[in-house]
Amino acid sequence: MKKVIYFSLLFLFLISCKSKKITIGILIYDESDTFMGEYTNNIIEQLPEQVSYTINYSENSQALQNEQLISFLQKGVDLMIVNPVDRLACKSITELCAKNNVSLIFINREPLLSDISFYEDVYYVGSDPKNQGISQAQMIANLFGSPNNLNYDRNADNKIQLLVLKGEQNHQDAESRTRFALEELNKLGYELEVLDIQVCNWRRQEAYTTIKSLYSLYGAELELIIANNDDMALGAIDYFKEIDLFKSSETFEQPIVVVGVDGTKVGVDSVNQGLMYGTILNDSLSQSKAVISLLRKILNLNPEEVFPYAFENNKFIYIAGEKITQN
Ligand code: BGC
Ligand code: CA
Repeated sequence: MKKVIYFSLLFLFLISCKSKKITIGILIYDESDTFMGEYTNNIIEQLPEQVSYTINYSENSQALQNEQLISFLQKGVDLMIVNPVDRLACKSITELCAKNNVSLIFINREPLLSDISFYEDVYYVGSDPKNQGISQAQMIANLFGSPNNLNYDRNADNKIQLLVLKGEQNHQDAESRTRFALEELNKLGYELEVLDIQVCNWRRQEAYTTIKSLYSLYGAELELIIANNDDMALGAIDYFKEIDLFKSSETFEQPIVVVGVDGTKVGVDSVNQGLMYGTILNDSLSQSKAVISLLRKILNLNPEEVFPYAFENNKFIYIAGEKITQN
């Protein structure tokens, strides 16, 4: 009899181990961000079946995100995926997770190495914004042609008159994309006249309003708009459509060249309609695959599995993306 009870208990114990769910928390800086929406869906769709998740959006407030994190940690999770509101909060986010022995993957907003190096179990997955800036410049060069004999030189001065629509100040993607796009154009031999650089915080509506007010100042000479993401490029295009300057066409033939980064669905649609000249893929599908691989590795879901990504400084994974134009 004793034996039977013993085996029944053992059996129940084994069953409960097997079906033990792994729980993770996901925190996303804001629900209205187009790119993050696609990225988040890609992550969720690929979560292994034994993982259950809860997601919170932080309404662009770091204070709210901190509370949400604390509540996740109090309830008990095995791993956190965090898209921070403010990159500089990564240190305290990491400290909290370390204290609770919870693994942590930051996405999209890159922590400083010095802020996270004290904890072994923290990683970052993001795009390669330097490469995206350089690719944007190469795509522009493709269209504008020889620096000594420019296409799209509306005022025939052999310089490119341009505006930059910048993402959030201090966001690594905004800073690097802007810097490397302009530096690469210079390296390729173009003379640039940067009419203005305006921070539009990744937002379509802000870019629309900004271009609407700048157009009266620079409209006559403007030749190029470099946007750090597709939503801001689309905001500019919304205005140009409104004033009948841009019309959809099978090939690209707009009077002003607008380029973006992301390759979101709405961004690619605009390229296909001949409105946006091109965009650089911010590859949310590949980034989400890297997040999932990392999660499987951290949680040791299949010890046989080979981990295919290379880390920089043992913690950072960067995913490159290619150019998207009509042809
Ligand atoms: C994307 C933007 C997005 C931002 C959010 C960037 O990498 O290009 O579209 O708004 O991340 O942090
Ligand atoms: Ca010119």
